Amino acid sequence: MPSRYATETARRRTFAIISHPDAGKTTVTEKLLLFGGAIQLAGTVKGRKAARHATSDWMELEKQRGISVTSSVMQFPYKDRIVNLLDTPGHQDFSEDTYRTLTAVDSALMVIDVAKGVEERTIKLMEVCRLRDTPIMTFINKLDREGREPIELLDEVEDVLKIQCAPVTWPIGMGKRFKGVYHLKRDAVHLFSPTHGGKIQQGEIIQGLDNPRLDEVLGSQAAELREELELVMGASHEFDKDEYLAGRQTPVFFGSAINNFGIQELLDDFVEHAPAPQPRPTETRKVSPDEETFSGFVFKIQANMDPQHRDRIAFLRICSGTFTKGMKLNHVRIKRDVRISDALTFLASDREHLEEAYPGDIIGLHNHGTIRIGDTFTQGEALAFTGIPNFAPELFRRAQLRDPLKMKQLQKGLQQLCEEGATQLFRPLTNNDLILGAVGVLQFDVVAHRLKSEYNVDAAFETVSVQTARWVTCEDERKLEQFKDKAAANLAIDHGGDLVYIAPTRVNLQMAMEKWPEITFSATREHG
Ligand code: G4P
Repeated sequence: MPSRYATETARRRTFAIISHPDAGKTTVTEKLLLFGGAIQLAGTVKGRKAARHATSDWMELEKQRGISVTSSVMQFPYKDRIVNLLDTPGHQDFSEDTYRTLTAVDSALMVIDVAKGVEERTIKLMEVCRLRDTPIMTFINKLDREGREPIELLDEVEDVLKIQCAPVTWPIGMGKRFKGVYHLKRDAVHLFSPTHGGKIQQGEIIQGLDNPRLDEVLGSQAAELREELELVMGASHEFDKDEYLAGRQTPVFFGSAINNFGIQELLDDFVEHAPAPQPRPTETRKVSPDEETFSGFVFKIQANMDPQHRDRIAFLRICSGTFTKGMKLNHVRIKRDVRISDALTFLASDREHLEEAYPGDIIGLHNHGTIRIGDTFTQGEALAFTGIPNFAPELFRRAQLRDPLKMKQLQKGLQQLCEEGATQLFRPLTNNDLILGAVGVLQFDVVAHRLKSEYNVDAAFETVSVQTARWVTCEDERKLEQFKDKAAANLAIDHGGDLVYIAPTRVNLQMAMEKWPEITFSATREHG
């Protein structure tokens, strides 16, 4: 008999949703929770959204802009599995957070709006998933509205995202004519009955495509469906689990999240086929989830989730071993043992104190300024998990203090915000500027707001003539020294102590790269 550890590990399913804003990520999340029994919803999406804002949108900034800067973790049981859903910020300015969250999952769910098809953010997120061959399931949403031809959509996914599609369900009409989906594997039609809100209502299921009941219910659409399916089955791929797990094929489901329709079919297949916790690379070796000694890495740090407690929570993905309350863990980077007595887990709505957690689970550690993104915790082995990147910023600003006496606080604040991944800091070699880098402009607003509220520092950010940045390294130390000498005016040290080339223009960067072929210019940097 497998051990309790093996059983618990094997039943974890940890994933995130990727989508373009407005495709329905929030709605799908909420419906997954509903089917997972994690929440009893009374209201509609809007009610839920409003409630969510009230509990998690801790910053006024968020309220003002109506976006969610935070990203949290929801756990729910479904059938005999434990599902961990990692939420990601919808706004593109916080995409770095999303990228890092994707390093902590074993698979992803892609949500596509039937009317819009493959959109720009989805393309970007898909690229990130591809870096690790993350398996992807696809949900095509909003079939209760008019949209594009399903066949055309699948072609677009295949062409643009370069992944094979294997339809698992197929829609019967759309918009006003939307009647339900045909489940290819089960050979059954699941009829659509709109049910907004929190009620789970099982519509009629008609077994067999040739069932005369279909003609009764669907009228002329029954014949249309049969014809279409013949075409679809001839032209599309059959679901192949190995291809899916290798990240080369995506099973596709159709539905209408707002109507609770199509979600159950998706969730059933998800818990059956999505990968259990996977091995993770470290600098020295691969860590397998079968190992019973604890290890995990921090992929996200979030401040002030609960306005009553001004604490920061470091989100740690467990890679191996069992976490138990009060256990002692080694914080590898600072080589210190710490007793973790008050870790948190994130159930659908409340934070709850947890007793035990397994590979695939996320725990929240209270962070008093010692934990950085990318940090590894183990039971003693000096491991360092890899693959948690910093991305070269595209936007730069110079921090300007309104009160020059607050320099120390500013530096401390910026250092900590950098370690949390809220921004990146560059200090030029040749002057005392503090240059902040970000992927999206809202990050600067968040930093300014947090500097003020948490460090009592009033800082403004002004434009600076930096357009792009690259981390530089070179095997040959002499060459590197030479480069540092010649290019000093364009060099800076980042918050992690690494050397960065900050270029006033892309042309300048291009020229520097051509002039110094021995130097490696990288657009990403590993945390650590
Ligand atoms: P996001 O997190 O990806 O940004 O999307 P979200 O779930 O917030 O959904 C975006 C909008 O799409 C929401 O409308 C939501 O109600 C709607 N929506 C989600 N799923 C479906 C669906 O299956 N069918 C239809 N017809 N709409 C869906 P909203 O923000 O409330 O705007 P509004 O509709 O009130 O104007």
